[in-house]
Amino acid sequence: MKMTDFRKDFPLIANSKIAYLDSGATAQKPFAVLECMKNFYEKTNANPHRGVYKLSVDATNEYVAARQTVADFIGARSMDEIVFTKNATESLNLLAYSYGLDNISEGDEIILSIMEHHSNLVPWQMVAKKKHATLKYLYINKNCQIDESELEKITNKTKIVSITALSNVLGTKVDLDKIIKKAHAVGAKVIIDACQAVAHMPINVSDIDADFAVFSGHKIYAPLGIGVLYGKKELLEKMSPFMFGGDMIEYVYENDTTFAPVPTKFEAGTQNVAGAVGLAAAIKYLQNIGYEKICKHEQQLLEYAITNLKKLPYIDLYCTDELEKMAGVISFNMKGVHPHDVSSLLDGEGVCVRSGNHCAQPLLRFMGLDSTCRASISIYSNKDDIDKLIEALKKIYEKFKKYIG
Ligand SMILES: Cc1ncc(COP(=O)(O)O)c(C=O)c1O
Repeated sequence: MKMTDFRKDFPLIANSKIAYLDSGATAQKPFAVLECMKNFYEKTNANPHRGVYKLSVDATNEYVAARQTVADFIGARSMDEIVFTKNATESLNLLAYSYGLDNISEGDEIILSIMEHHSNLVPWQMVAKKKHATLKYLYINKNCQIDESELEKITNKTKIVSITALSNVLGTKVDLDKIIKKAHAVGAKVIIDACQAVAHMPINVSDIDADFAVFSGHKIYAPLGIGVLYGKKELLEKMSPFMFGGDMIEYVYENDTTFAPVPTKFEAGTQNVAGAVGLAAAIKYLQNIGYEKICKHEQQLLEYAITNLKKLPYIDLYCTDELEKMAGVISFNMKGVHPHDVSSLLDGEGVCVRSGNHCAQPLLRFMGLDSTCRASISIYSNKDDIDKLIEALKKIYEKFKKYIG
């Protein structure tokens, strides 16, 4: 199997022996991103939108250019539709507080999938409780996919459908097209949690006609602390601010304030400009490689990993058997051994995988599980990483086999 080696672009792993299989939690950062941020702090750092002096104007220009890069990346019609936040969680809270509380009434329904990350679930529980609305879930079948019959839950009572594009536990790709069409047919708005998806597949918000979409920079090779909320401009314009303070205002009087136009209305206080600049650099890095290459590389690796994991009879896998319908992450357990023990012992062998409930307790409960191990792959993952994982699992099994039979 011939694979492109992107590893050399990532200082943390370029010369390291560890198999970093936790990019679904956070991805490593390439030189291109680190250099860009260093440059910003060394040459352009100033508070944007504040000063009229050149340095402040330069910082503003870099911030604006980053917003345009994000808008182009996800196919937004205008950069006014891009709000910078600190992560996907903040973007979803902004939507729950600002759009949810103002547009949901008693008796309305909010639809989620059972695969949602807590970030796209707990905020909607808050809205449902405060507004006496009902939360409904699209469940998955035994093959880890949402059956079309589940979409019948989207009715005239539905006001919001908030759904992941890619499960962070199962790697299931969700058929967004059908869900968005059904939701729009009943007048509901659709929020796409693209947090896992953007690293692995193109998301074009205009093509799919998403009303809102969110993601975190750190999962696509950008720094921690920068996130994105996309919203159709006409919706963002009608929404109330989420946080109040400097920069998000137009005129402030002793007892009243008018607000800046979108997106600034949603960006109170000094923003993470270096983060935005780093995110733009990460996007350009991704675009230089291209999704075609990324998908091919990652899909080959996913298949290789799943084929080899299936050869271990003591490993339970939790994923669809249609590999083209999944990406990025593989959840598994060793029969009879707690995932935290497996993960700890894997660490001893230089293999980093996540273990736990992956911030998706309702999903795991639905599947009759408490926790799993999760190996997640990215463009710098390679065949050696998977071989290390498999060999380490064999070693761990040898230790435990007398207890598990
Ligand atoms: C699908 C999904 N949504 C939302 C989040 C929340 O991301 P963050 O913690 O960066 O806000 C995650 C993080 O793992 C995720 O995988």
